[in-house]
Amino acid sequence: RKYTVAILGATGAVGQRLISELEKSKIPVKQIKLLASKRSAGKKLKFKNQAITVEEAQPDSFKGVDLVLSSAGGAVSQKLLPEAVKRGAVCVDNTSAFRMADDVPLIVPGVNDDQLINHHGIIANPNCSTIQMVAALYPLHVKWGIKQIVVSTYQAVSGAGKAAWAELLQQAQDRLNNQKTAAKILPTASAKKHYPLAFNLLPQIDVFEDDGYTHEEWKMIHETKKILFNDQDSKKIKVTATCVRVPVEIGHGETVYFVLQDETATTAAIKQEIVKAPGLVLQDDPENQIYPQPLLAAGKKEIFVGRIRPDQENPGAFNMWVVADNLLRGAASNTVEIAECLVRDNLVRVPKNS
Ligand code: A2P
Repeated sequence: RKYTVAILGATGAVGQRLISELEKSKIPVKQIKLLASKRSAGKKLKFKNQAITVEEAQPDSFKGVDLVLSSAGGAVSQKLLPEAVKRGAVCVDNTSAFRMADDVPLIVPGVNDDQLINHHGIIANPNCSTIQMVAALYPLHVKWGIKQIVVSTYQAVSGAGKAAWAELLQQAQDRLNNQKTAAKILPTASAKKHYPLAFNLLPQIDVFEDDGYTHEEWKMIHETKKILFNDQDSKKIKVTATCVRVPVEIGHGETVYFVLQDETATTAAIKQEIVKAPGLVLQDDPENQIYPQPLLAAGKKEIFVGRIRPDQENPGAFNMWVVADNLLRGAASNTVEIAECLVRDNLVRVPKNS
């Protein structure tokens, strides 16, 4: 079977990578549709050396489409993906619009792709910071059980989209030219106040919840529980998060402090599990200053893990440093890998009761 695939948000930071990841994938593509806002309609983008005209995304754009890969913001997904499903398309969504819905599998391939069988037309791709953390912890969870996670993130600007990314570069340029600079988007477009990110840190990603956590932190906490425990035993694991935007272009860093149920785990054994796990790369040689860095991870699909060391005062607890390309591993590669799993399991069909 060959598939007609639509990429929604094809002109965006993630959308561009969805195109290149799909080009490299083994998914047999019959036809490709590139969809974005009205602003981009008529623009030409390449897919496998073929010039494809970008179309404005509308409900009827999904007629005849088998598979939608989407990354055009939550509001666009809310509006258009149910329309796509109505027209028989299976959607893999990068936004947070449907992630916590009971009938929507939230998938990291290699961790919980067995849940895909339960889909009703929409499958969610987790938050970029969640994906790299969960994938790095998963082999340790399988072997020793995770009791608690305390994570702090150092998130690259590209995760906020291409306009925020351009804003950071402009601010950096302005600072070097000794000029006044403007902040219009970050920390988040909908916020009342905006602050420069160049030569700064912003401890706000997404909006604030009533409890004082940001929505990004909320996502890391709840998505992690849904993925590792499918929400049934979510009380078994304690998760807390602090998310910070840093002036890095591509590549999220995370300090992950985790407490294992089984206190017999050693640093050497943890390193062995990381080395064995597909998609994880151990970069942990302090003597030779080998450790993961965003500049080294950008453009790669793997998740890089280093600085693994025990908490000397708390048995079973460890610190580690995890870095991945947020646009690839945290978004486009994960989405295309979900699509590959759907094709592999013959699940590119909307169940009748949906
Ligand atoms: P466009 O380039 O036409 O604005 P990013 O995450 O990098 O900001 O990219 C967002 C993506 O979502 C872009 O491809 C953008 O298209 C697309 N997009 C934004 N608003 C809409 C909309 N109303 N309908 C369809 N696509 C949209």
